[in-house]
Amino acid sequence: MTRACCVLLILQITFTYYVDAYNNKCGNVHLTVSARDSYLEINWIAECPKPLHPDEIILSRKNMAGRDEDPEILLRVKPSEYPDGYLKTKVKFGHPFLPGGWDYNDEVGSKAPGPHCFPYWLASFNNSHIIDTRCLAIQPTWMADNKDLLADRYLDTLLLPGTHNSGAFLGEGTFQEQFILNQDRDIWTQLVFGIRYLDFRIGFYGSQGFFLNHDKFRIQEVRPLFQQIKKFLLASPKEMIILDFHRFPYPSKFSEDIHNQFVKIVHEDLGEFAATALSGIRTTKLHEFWTFNKSLIICYNNQPIVESKKNETWLWHPLRQYWGDARSLPDLKRHIRKVIDERGDLPKANPFWALMAELTPRPIDIFFGTYNLRKLAQETNKEITKWFRDEYGKESNIVATDYFLGNDIIDIAIDINTRGNRDKTIL
Ligand SMILES: *[C@@H]1O[C@H](CO)[C@@H](O)[C@H](O)[C@H]1NC(C)=O
Ligand SMILES: *[C@@H]1O[C@H](CO)[C@@H](O)[C@H](O)[C@H]1NC(C)=O
Ligand SMILES: *[C@@H]1O[C@H](CO)[C@@H](O)[C@H](O)[C@H]1NC(C)=O
Repeated sequence: MTRACCVLLILQITFTYYVDAYNNKCGNVHLTVSARDSYLEINWIAECPKPLHPDEIILSRKNMAGRDEDPEILLRVKPSEYPDGYLKTKVKFGHPFLPGGWDYNDEVGSKAPGPHCFPYWLASFNNSHIIDTRCLAIQPTWMADNKDLLADRYLDTLLLPGTHNSGAFLGEGTFQEQFILNQDRDIWTQLVFGIRYLDFRIGFYGSQGFFLNHDKFRIQEVRPLFQQIKKFLLASPKEMIILDFHRFPYPSKFSEDIHNQFVKIVHEDLGEFAATALSGIRTTKLHEFWTFNKSLIICYNNQPIVESKKNETWLWHPLRQYWGDARSLPDLKRHIRKVIDERGDLPKANPFWALMAELTPRPIDIFFGTYNLRKLAQETNKEITKWFRDEYGKESNIVATDYFLGNDIIDIAIDINTRGNRDKTIL
């Protein structure tokens, strides 16, 4: 009796979800969160021959493939009415507690490895048969989950999901909302979802210390963010994080003395995790980083400072960010293709490289308030998912986006890096 009950329980909570290699199969589904207001968006691959088309899409609180329980259906959609394979729902995702004990303030719950679902599932059907089903999930340990597949890989040959202006997630007032913020989740939450590249811009305000900036606008103090990174590295020691100090916009003369102070603080707060920098030829595989228990790569975008600090062996040379300065999606796509084609595979002082996959608002749009970053991000994110899933993912290294929950780059990266053989078990 007891045994039967437990077997049943296990069947209900341990299941796998089926995703085809590289996720680009007709009818495959994924959930995103709107950059504009945190409502759930449902997405499915609609480009397929007619008879293969899914005939129903269902959003539910529980897995439609799970047995013996009410899946708590939230929404049923006829895909033929949405030829783009996209619909923004009226279901608010907001900023919920992170599952699996991964909430930042959850000091009691143990942080269980592996992906963990929010209570939102999307499924596509054909003649009442499930084609694909997936939940919206955090991926706090995706490198560790797939350690056998990734151990012998070089980090610069992986597709790494990143955020642009990673610290720009707070702020007040409409102007900041529209033009300053690039993210709506804090650093901890970004890492727990699976982001592995952080792009920081640093400002110095005298006795008030160092801040995260967007150009000249200061957003928040930087040291509390280091604490979020530190806490994550302790909880997930096999996840490789690239922390890129990419700009030093304030004061405009960011002197050597200020750099020295900053480097000292970084070393104090994060030095224990920092991997020794390697220049030139790639030599470090993931298992080597893991052996040395160093999973943080700190890149510093100021060559003279890096060169002047020979004893700070943890400072990596500047990481190259590729910017399109594109005002339209076709321009951005052309730019990404061009970068991938022309980059070449020459040894570089820093082996990592980042595609900055966002549109730049035109000054005139800022002036008239006809565009804002959330709206731009929403439009861009849908395309980014397709481009990297279907075309560029295998040839790219870091892809940094705005409002990353609006695209599927984390899942695409895991799938591509594991060549479709990822651990798909969700607990
Ligand atoms: C959908 O059902 C039709 C008819 O049963 C079948 O021919 C087709 O292969 C199915 N499509 C998918 C994607 O399973
Ligand atoms: C790895 O490094 C961290 C940070 O210094 C330390 O807290 C942890 O105990 C180390 N783990 C192992 C297995 O050595
Ligand atoms: C490197 O040298 C500088 C200047 O002598 C010193 O302040 C700093 O603590 C040293 N760093 C390390 C990691 O030893």
